Amino acid sequence: MKALNMCDVTVRYPDTDRAALDEVTFEIDRGEIMLILGARGAGKSTLCMLTNGLIPHAVSCSLTGKVEIFGREVSEHTVAEHSVKVGIVFQEPENQLFCMSVEEEVAFGPENLAVERDELVDRVERALEIVGLKGYNEKPPSSLSGGQRQRLAIAAALSMQPEMLVLDEPTYALDPVGRIELYTLLADLKRKHDMTVVIAGRDAEEAADYADRVALFKRGRLVRVGTPEELLTVPDELRNIGVPPLQVSEISEAIRLKIHEFECRDITVEGLVSHAARTIENRRAAR
Ligand SMILES: Nc1ncnc2c1ncn2[C@@H]1O[C@H](COP(=O)(O)OP(=O)(O)OP(=O)(O)O)[C@@H](O)[C@H]1O
Ligand SMILES: [Mg+2]
Repeated sequence: MKALNMCDVTVRYPDTDRAALDEVTFEIDRGEIMLILGARGAGKSTLCMLTNGLIPHAVSCSLTGKVEIFGREVSEHTVAEHSVKVGIVFQEPENQLFCMSVEEEVAFGPENLAVERDELVDRVERALEIVGLKGYNEKPPSSLSGGQRQRLAIAAALSMQPEMLVLDEPTYALDPVGRIELYTLLADLKRKHDMTVVIAGRDAEEAADYADRVALFKRGRLVRVGTPEELLTVPDELRNIGVPPLQVSEISEAIRLKIHEFECRDITVEGLVSHAARTIENRRAAR
C-alpha cells in the first residue's frame, strides 16, 4: 500500500481558467522523503491539501480522478479520519497555533480524539522531546522563536501519531540554522520513526541532500519524478519549472565550458570537487 496514490487527478477552483492540478498521476511510498518542487502557482499547496482530505472536504473546488491516502479513498472518509494518518504543517505556523501554552497546543489534537489522560501526557512529552522542545510545556507559543514555533507546529502534528507528515514551504520563515535543524529533524523522523515526509517548496538547494525523491511541478502539471541526483543536477530541468538550479550544477556548467566532457551527477560540493579533481588528473595522465 502506498502512502499516497493519485491517479489522473484534476483540481479546479471556482472561476479560474486553468486547473490548479492537471491530470496528475503520482505515488508517494511509505517511509520516503518526497520533495514537491515548483514555482509560485505550481499547485504545491493544492497537493498538500489533498493529502489529508482538506480538498475536497473543506475547500471549495472540484476534484476528479482517484486519490487514496494510505489505501483509503479521499472522498469516502472525513478530514478527521485522514488526520489520524496524515499531519500537515503549513507555511506560517502562527496560523496553526492558537493555544495559551506549548503543552495545550500539542495536546489539542489527541484531546479531540478523546485520548485518555495518561496517554495524552505521554504523547505530549514524546512529541516535545522529538522536536527539541522538552521543558517548554508552560511557555506561551508567542514567546518562541520562528524555528521553535515551526517545531511546535510539527509537535502538534506528531502528537496525533501520524504515519505521514506534510510540510508546505516549512523553511519560509526560518534562518539558515533553523533550516538545517528542521531538515535534520525530518531525516530523524524518517530514520527512527519510519515517517513518510512530504516537503513542498520553491528551493531545490535546501532539501536536495535530504530527499529520497523529487517531483517537479509546473502550472499544475507533474513534469518529472526522480531522485535528486537524476533531476536536481540537470539545471535545465529546474529552469524549465522556474526554479533556480543548484549551485553545484551551475559550477559544473561553468567547468564544462572549459572541459567539455565534464559531467557530474553529485549534488554535494564535496562530490563535485573530488569529481572535478579526478577529471583533471585523468586529462593530465592522458596527455
Ligand atoms: N482558493 C483558491 N481560489 C482560486 N484559485 C486558487 C485558490 N488557491 C489556489 N488557486 C490557484 O491555483 C493554482 C495553484 O495554487 P497553489 O496555491 O496550489 O500553488 P503553490 O505551488 O502552492 O504556489 P505558492 O508557491 O505561491 O504557494 C494557482 O494558479 C493559484 O492562483
Ligand atoms: Mg503554496
